[in-house]
Amino acid sequence: MEQMRLWNENRRFAVVPAGRRSGKTELAKRRLVFMLPVKKDWPDARYFAAAPTRGQAKRIFWSDLKALIPAKWIKRVYETELCVTTIFGSEIWVVGLDRPQRIEGTPWDGGVLDEYADMKPGVWTENIRPALADRGGWCWFIGVPEGLNHYKDLADYAASGVDADWGFYTWRSSDIVAEPEVEGARRILDPRTFRQEYEASFEGRAGRVYYAYDAKRHVDAGIEVDPKLPIAVCCDFNVDPCVWELAQTDGRLVLVFDEIALRDTNTYEMCKEFLRRYGRHRAGFVVHGDAAGSARSTAGKSDYAIMMEMGFKDQRVKRSNPAVRDRVNAVNSMLRNAREEVRLTHHPRCAQLRKDFEKVEWTDGGVDIDKARPELTHAADALGYFVAAEFPLTTTKRDPARRFYK
Ligand SMILES: Nc1ncnc2c1ncn2[C@@H]1O[C@H](COP(=O)(O)OP(=O)(O)OP(=O)(O)O)[C@@H](O)[C@H]1O
Ligand SMILES: [Mg+2]
Repeated sequence: MEQMRLWNENRRFAVVPAGRRSGKTELAKRRLVFMLPVKKDWPDARYFAAAPTRGQAKRIFWSDLKALIPAKWIKRVYETELCVTTIFGSEIWVVGLDRPQRIEGTPWDGGVLDEYADMKPGVWTENIRPALADRGGWCWFIGVPEGLNHYKDLADYAASGVDADWGFYTWRSSDIVAEPEVEGARRILDPRTFRQEYEASFEGRAGRVYYAYDAKRHVDAGIEVDPKLPIAVCCDFNVDPCVWELAQTDGRLVLVFDEIALRDTNTYEMCKEFLRRYGRHRAGFVVHGDAAGSARSTAGKSDYAIMMEMGFKDQRVKRSNPAVRDRVNAVNSMLRNAREEVRLTHHPRCAQLRKDFEKVEWTDGGVDIDKARPELTHAADALGYFVAAEFPLTTTKRDPARRFYK
């Protein structure tokens, strides 16, 4: 099995993209602890357990490593430095690569880079590799793919076989994890996100952003307002056009029943138009939207302050917006999960939303959404803030203490 091959082949550098919850980090912890008693020609063998940030590194590694190292091996534990020294003279350090300087300047015998796809591209060549040179140190690159970024380049190099120092190892979650857990993820994630996160597939981002959308499946003229559910007013504050999507959810499905799209307008006018249409809705309304609306101002007032004055008192706007990729993944996942189930539909009168779903494209090789056409993106952005808040995917909040899906 692939995990055994990784353990036994002993390549100096191992690139290990593998599915979520499939034991990548666990195996790496065991490898680090296994190395601690190994004799070297120097008295102070040093190993690192690294993650993109110090907080992440501490959460992922610290308590588990302390528990995994046999008590009689431990000489001293340095809680603030996140370091354990052993009776063999070896040391293990938990480090966050938001401060890669902590790696530089001292020679290392080996270590692990966890969630490597989330690290800055230069970390390996500029900070880590030089620090491994003196002692011929080893390194494992573990994580889940993230598009076609530097992790893919490294994986391609390792897999090509041109360099015998490098090994490439990969496995899917379903090779390791019990089926109900994988099935749960299939219900939550869109097909592309599922392949990336659970099958360790390097997935490009090109062409349509909302690839999971298909008007034949997602347009429903039968959608009506449910008088018992509040209306989610999903706002984006572009001026021309300004587009708000109006949706309802029962906690499982999202039905977008109307949109307000006005040209050359302002937040007062948008509020008035909403109140004209739905001001008498008994179950009330809840505001979601672009966090930037808190900063932007018309005549000294923020958009949300204006909305407050206009009677939109229940506001659930986040302090900051989610990453674009998280927002988009959340929307695609509602449009179509890996079991081909649809959880988000809209009424045909939401014409801007349909246009966005069909026409918005990626730019820069999938780094960002193409904003070149000013009439596009606002409707899907507005709805996306709501969907990402109510149906978040925690794929990038890599907290091992928390389950991946709700
Ligand atoms: N060989 C094993 N024996 C027992 N439990 C294991 C084994 N490997 C992993 N686990 C357990 O399975 C869970 C997931 O493992 P781990 O955190 O290593 O996965 P991961 O691939 O790093 O996941 P993520 O992508 O979420 O970081 C953990 O609770 C871990 O303790
Ligand atoms: Mg992990």
